[in-house]
Amino acid sequence: MKSLNIIYHKASVTRERRNNLNNHPSIVLWFTGLSGSGKSTLAHALEEKLFQRGCRTFVLDGDNVRYGLNSNLDFSKTDRAENIRRISEVSKLMIEAGLIVMTAFISPFKKDRNEARNLISNDHFIEIFCKASIETCEKRDVKGLYKLARAGEIKNYTGIDSPYEVPENPELIINTDKETLDYSVSRILKFLERKDLIIKDELNEN
Ligand code: ADX
Repeated sequence: MKSLNIIYHKASVTRERRNNLNNHPSIVLWFTGLSGSGKSTLAHALEEKLFQRGCRTFVLDGDNVRYGLNSNLDFSKTDRAENIRRISEVSKLMIEAGLIVMTAFISPFKKDRNEARNLISNDHFIEIFCKASIETCEKRDVKGLYKLARAGEIKNYTGIDSPYEVPENPELIINTDKETLDYSVSRILKFLERKDLIIKDELNEN
């Protein structure tokens, strides 16, 4: 802790008041999985549906955030931990601002994900494991990075020469290599409805 002599200022417009105004609680949906497992695609498709229902949403996406806020970080274990720590803090601010936050980061290490959960609070943290085999992700190779990693041109690539620690107890597992995108999105929406985190959409069945 380098900042000393700082005194927390309490806002009068609280998270609770924002949640009441928005008609939904603010939560973090933490998508984790290999590169190419469909985290971003799923997060954005879900956001579209939530937005159409009038929810206040935002997606924090690994590649995008690494262009800005985290552009000084690499893919070493230490920098990945720092990547996730900053994202957790940003997510925490965003839930204070009343949003449903969707994060799409590989977040390969259990310790980092657990720290994110603890920082944000267990009740507001929903871990969604985008499960797809390394073979599937490598075959998709949307960004062409697996090929470069196999050729040794990228080091520490998750799933190739850097580990991915599978979540032990995620709130949801989405088999992105077996389910259609629409079906996966509707499963997440149903989960959120069951938990009373969003209101059931009577008119449009997912
Ligand atoms: S994390 O491990 O720190 O959570 P993050 O989700 O931010 O990773 O970034 C992953 C994205 O960066 C991948 O989807 C891929 O496009 C790109 N990338 C570049 N180098 C690597 C690497 N060595 N390992 C994994 N992803 C990489």
